[in-house]
Amino acid sequence: MVNKIRAAITGIHAWVPDYRLTNHELSKMVDTSDEWIMQRVGISERRILKGEGLGSSDMGEMAVKGLLEKTGTSPEEIDLLICATITPDMSFPATANIISDKAGIVNAFSFDVGAACSGFLFALQTAATYVETGKCKKAIVVGADKMSSITDYTDRTTCTLFGDAAGAVLLEPTDDDNGIMDYIFHTDGSGRKFLHMKAGGSVRPPSHETVDAREHFVYQEGQSVFKFAVVNMADVAVEIMKRNNLKSKDIDWLVPHQANLRIIEATGRRMGLPPEKIMINIEKYGNTTAATIPLCLWEYESRLRKGNHLILAAFGGGFTWGSMYIKWAFDPK
Ligand code: UT7
Repeated sequence: MVNKIRAAITGIHAWVPDYRLTNHELSKMVDTSDEWIMQRVGISERRILKGEGLGSSDMGEMAVKGLLEKTGTSPEEIDLLICATITPDMSFPATANIISDKAGIVNAFSFDVGAACSGFLFALQTAATYVETGKCKKAIVVGADKMSSITDYTDRTTCTLFGDAAGAVLLEPTDDDNGIMDYIFHTDGSGRKFLHMKAGGSVRPPSHETVDAREHFVYQEGQSVFKFAVVNMADVAVEIMKRNNLKSKDIDWLVPHQANLRIIEATGRRMGLPPEKIMINIEKYGNTTAATIPLCLWEYESRLRKGNHLILAAFGGGFTWGSMYIKWAFDPK
């Protein structure tokens, strides 16, 4: 019998800007406090990309160049690059194209995926499918978001939540029993009313009026999103465990989207996992949208072992949500 070709993550890298926006600094900008943010969300600081003319592609470029170097891959070998982002450098062309150009990736086709906080998972599975068919041999998936570019720093209900970062993985075919095993994805467009950016698209193109009304920033009805997120992220993580006959003891790591520590902990509890099996770095980076999951994998890389069972889970704007089951394919170098 011919073995099924799987796609496996064979390298991971991430990049974060130097500037740390602390809760203390935010409390001088809006009516908030370190105590409120830590208790309700679990964020202590977030990184902000400073500098004129810098965008998501610049962070993606750093993550991708580091990934190529770390894995000993030459840019010419890459045949697909997908960037998950909701903060593209510009409406078009795709930020993936700009990252490819900046990183010297000249033999790939590239495009963006816009699925907000689930963007990295949706992009990862898209790239995996190309690899599984044999069409692509080396694919890169980047999650990059400069959330500070769409965050209203006069609105205390959103400005404490977001940060800037990029993370990237290399995907290659494998015929052993590791790699991307399964995925379950959902969207519910009716949830868009709770989390979106009002202007800047074709319905409300940018105008003096939209700028004056502060409509180019994230709009979120936090409590409503919280209710959907806490149920759906846990449900979809449990669903993928059941479908793959995985018990709590079989899972080595939950890799959750980092939007709120309370949502992450609730998901872990529903899966029956002890806290030490949950990747958490929200305290240091906040919600970096498409970058949270690769940022977690990068930070925990030295603790991952070949054959480890990982459940990735996300929920975000759209609404979009989903989970992936991965058997980690390599030991730390
Ligand atoms: O990643 C994309 C998906 N997004 C999410 O998953 C986010 C889901 N939502 C959340 O994580 C939470 O809803 C938030 C962190 C956004 C808000 O936490 P919450 O516990 O739902 O707070 P709330 O919106 O119910 O607000 C409670 C109180 C309100 O005051 P009153 O009306 O009780 O007097 C707010 O005005 O907290 C107030 N508040 C703040 N106080 C201090 C809201 N933001 C702040 C703040 N500092 N930054």
